[in-house]
Amino acid sequence: MKEQIQIFDTTLRDGEQVPGCKLNTHQKLEIATELQRLGVDVIEAGFPVSSPGDFEAVNTIAKEIRGTTICGLTRAVEGDIDVAAKALKPSDNPRIHTGIGTSDHHVYAKLRSTQDEIVERARKAVKYARNYVAEVEFYAEDAGRTDNEYLARVVEAAIDSGATVINIPDTTGYCLPEQYGQKIAYLMNNVPNIDKAILSTHCHNDLGLATANSIAGITAGAKQIECTINGIGERAGNTSLEEVVMIMHQHQHIQFETNIETTLLTPISKIIELEMNMPVQRNKAIVGENAFAHSSGIHQDGVIKNRETYEIIDPKQVGADDSQIILTARSGRAALNYRAAKMNVKLTKEKLEVAYQRFLTVADRYNQVDDNQLMNLLNGI
Ligand code: KIV
Ligand code: ZN
Repeated sequence: MKEQIQIFDTTLRDGEQVPGCKLNTHQKLEIATELQRLGVDVIEAGFPVSSPGDFEAVNTIAKEIRGTTICGLTRAVEGDIDVAAKALKPSDNPRIHTGIGTSDHHVYAKLRSTQDEIVERARKAVKYARNYVAEVEFYAEDAGRTDNEYLARVVEAAIDSGATVINIPDTTGYCLPEQYGQKIAYLMNNVPNIDKAILSTHCHNDLGLATANSIAGITAGAKQIECTINGIGERAGNTSLEEVVMIMHQHQHIQFETNIETTLLTPISKIIELEMNMPVQRNKAIVGENAFAHSSGIHQDGVIKNRETYEIIDPKQVGADDSQIILTARSGRAALNYRAAKMNVKLTKEKLEVAYQRFLTVADRYNQVDDNQLMNLLNGI
């Protein structure tokens, strides 16, 4: 039996915190609607106390989106929780996401507090939030750099106070997959009331390990992944939704599944790119422009004979265009013949050789040879 992993999307909160990515209420609602169509389980709609605009956006999403959990972020501060509860009130599935820093950096340097005091603040915040909603998620900020024994104490207190989900953020993207997996396993084995809540991964990508860490987390027992479309987020970003979903999809042996409609991954990626003004790198896994493009002769020959020679995902599965055979100076005769056939031009062996020599002259002058250039060079052959 496959195990269901909850997808918690934080594009509208952690993703939107990025400079230049700010959205208005109308844009946030439009994206929330697309996220629901995509099949995410939880939409983190914003941080309601941060500004009147974000309050309005969370409140509007809570009113309009039915049947999906709508979440609002708070600090472990009663005023924040009051505002989040008010913004989320219209939702049929509201969740308050509250928490506090637990690493030494946070406890001593940022909060100028003590470990005992932080446990008490965590307890109070969760209890307070539970007065408003049945689903309270607690985050232990910088859990990635928090000592496991102390982290287990905080997690136990949060669950004891009524938290239903415990988020273990690797806030600075510091952990190695093995360390992050061990952290989740440690909590699964050492928190006495762990059966009363689920653990969630929340990984940042400072070392390019967010996706690997999230997968290590679910393999060790976490049941929810927090992620964003295109992996956008603070600094180097968050875990990329499309990557974790397709890893679970393609590696059937790891026995995880999600509710995500994978054919909507490319369309939503383009919406986020456009609305949030954040271009996707061409070689981005799953949704980058080059994710299914082949330009070297050896690869093109393999793909033309059988797509699976150089592709582990069928582009249709993620809503992308067909695999592309790009003509460059590194392309071979097979690719030229293939692209000519696509334009209904049939070439004999001899004609292909003439065309190929002409093609190389053009290709050496340009980055790519497009259909117009190809038609011109085929003319008269
Ligand atoms: O990275 C982080 O620690 C966060 C929390 C506020 C959940 O985004
Ligand atoms: Zn984060």
